[in-house]
Amino acid sequence: MQALMLLLWAGALLGPGSCQDNAGSLEDSPAPDTTGVPVEEEDPFFKVPVNKLAAAISNFGYDLYRVRSSLSPTANVLLSPLSVATALSALSLGAEQRTESTIHRALYYDLISNPDIHGTYKELLAAVTAPQKNFKSASRIIFERKLRIKSSFVAPLEKSYGTRPRILTGNSRLDLQEVNNWVQAQMKGKIARSTREIPSEISILLLGVAYFKGQWVTKFDPRKTSLEDFHLDEERTVRVPMMSDPKATLRYGLDSDLSCKIAQLPLTGSMSIIFFLPLKVTQNLTMIEESLTSEFIHDIDRELKTIQAVLTIPKLKLSYEGEVTKSLQEMKLQSLFDSPDFSKITGKPIKLTQVEHRGGFEWNEDGASTAPSAGLQPARLTFPLDYHLNQPFIFVLRDTDTGALLFIGKILDPRGI
Ligand SMILES: *[C@@H]1O[C@H](CO)[C@@H](O)[C@H](O)[C@H]1NC(C)=O
Repeated sequence: MQALMLLLWAGALLGPGSCQDNAGSLEDSPAPDTTGVPVEEEDPFFKVPVNKLAAAISNFGYDLYRVRSSLSPTANVLLSPLSVATALSALSLGAEQRTESTIHRALYYDLISNPDIHGTYKELLAAVTAPQKNFKSASRIIFERKLRIKSSFVAPLEKSYGTRPRILTGNSRLDLQEVNNWVQAQMKGKIARSTREIPSEISILLLGVAYFKGQWVTKFDPRKTSLEDFHLDEERTVRVPMMSDPKATLRYGLDSDLSCKIAQLPLTGSMSIIFFLPLKVTQNLTMIEESLTSEFIHDIDRELKTIQAVLTIPKLKLSYEGEVTKSLQEMKLQSLFDSPDFSKITGKPIKLTQVEHRGGFEWNEDGASTAPSAGLQPARLTFPLDYHLNQPFIFVLRDTDTGALLFIGKILDPRGI
């Protein structure tokens, strides 16, 4: 408690561009025991099976994000790793032991003692895609043409993941059209049709799609939105529509280890976005990225303090369409692309050939009410605190109920990808 107040004051004193060392850290160090070895006690939150599973697949999600980000260090990244995790988890239903444990390790299932992972997954999907969340996610497994699939694979797939496998016809125009129609139906038309041809050499194609449009708990006044500078790096700036609120209520903390200011803004439907804003303008967000785990985000969520600040934040409308195949291959999953054992799906040797992801993400001034929700008591600060998202930052969209990571973005240029 004491340490965090210090951090708050330090944050109020720090202007943009300064990078001084401050005592203390956001992370609570585990209490040392008599041998000096830190003892970690499990938070009761993670004892709930659905939260535990959410933490596992979100950790997969942060891994995927890190690989994806390192593959394109100078570009925006937008990912909903959940949809990819769902496709992989569903695929593991058809995997024999060796292949199954490869997938389970990547999804951190080996750290969960849950005899009914797939049943719990169903619960998690229902929780995060409930209508009030404004979050849509769908995943699909697509197989090569003429493949005969065992019904013992199809039934549990439908039961837990609510999806049926698709078998390609071999007519690339028809196949693309069918996939596009499926995406349109799942995303209620919010994601544009793809023109990317489905390659003919597909054996197994995984497809994960997601869409989110945020509704802030407190809406922004559109009259306060104006074109402002966004610093791409130390030299270049661009003008982008920036929303602002001179008296925003947000949750805040300064992480001196990561040299960044963390803020959390609540969304309707028991969701929030957590922002990581470096103390100085840089496109190198590696240090923050390396620290992202479900447990770290959970700690942040508990420890941030409610304050009032001058907030500016760019309007954002991003979409992503492309492959995450290479990223997955770099994540201990290479064997799925070489000689996996999917004999629970079919008698024929098949392997993963491609993993596609499509995502759409948007926020603007829209929100539920014009006044901050009652019950939030901002700490009194003698210094006005500024929080300007006018330089590269990372955001995490998190479901408060389960802790699940639903979207993650690295915004180097808010004008789009
Ligand atoms: C980015 O920052 C990290 C840690 O601060 C450093 O190790 C790395 O070399 C930097 N990368 C680039 C490309 O500058």
